[in-house]
Amino acid sequence: MAIKDVLILGNPQLRQKSTPITDWGAPIVSDIIKDMLDTMQHRKGIGIAAPQIGYAKRIIMFEINHNPRYPGAEPVPLTILINPEFEPIGDEHVDVWEGCLSVPGLRGKVKRYRQIRYTGITPTGELIDRTVNGMHAIVVQHEINHLDGILFPFRVIDWSDFGFETEVLERAIQENQANL
Ligand code: NI
Repeated sequence: MAIKDVLILGNPQLRQKSTPITDWGAPIVSDIIKDMLDTMQHRKGIGIAAPQIGYAKRIIMFEINHNPRYPGAEPVPLTILINPEFEPIGDEHVDVWEGCLSVPGLRGKVKRYRQIRYTGITPTGELIDRTVNGMHAIVVQHEINHLDGILFPFRVIDWSDFGFETEVLERAIQENQANL
């Protein structure tokens, strides 16, 4: 398939609520997934959601594998989810610095649930049901937010904790290693 342009902050398509997939075996679904995978890997992201490449559909994927922007994060195998959902486990929160392919060059600190349970359907129709914490839980919350038109900057609480990677990346990495 193809590497796609990633829509960036300000594009109204990123604010849309995406619709559920009713037929996970449809060819369009596998086409979207291939484009998402090519784009995520080309851009070296740890996750991507379908609306970021222009499809208002509830599909996300993520993979954490020794990414220099998230050192120390536990590896997470490539996971592709159709119609994903999550619920918090407990009410403990964590402050975490995030970035996003749709917000290039910027980082911001947001509040997320520390532990979640998430579900979704894989491209081959299997149910995934996992309880996770750490960066795994963060990336799932971040990607599912995209399906509801929410980008991480909307969740930044203190504007001192938002800025260009050249200025804040070192602090972001240190704080994430301490907090996650
Ligand atoms: Ni994102």
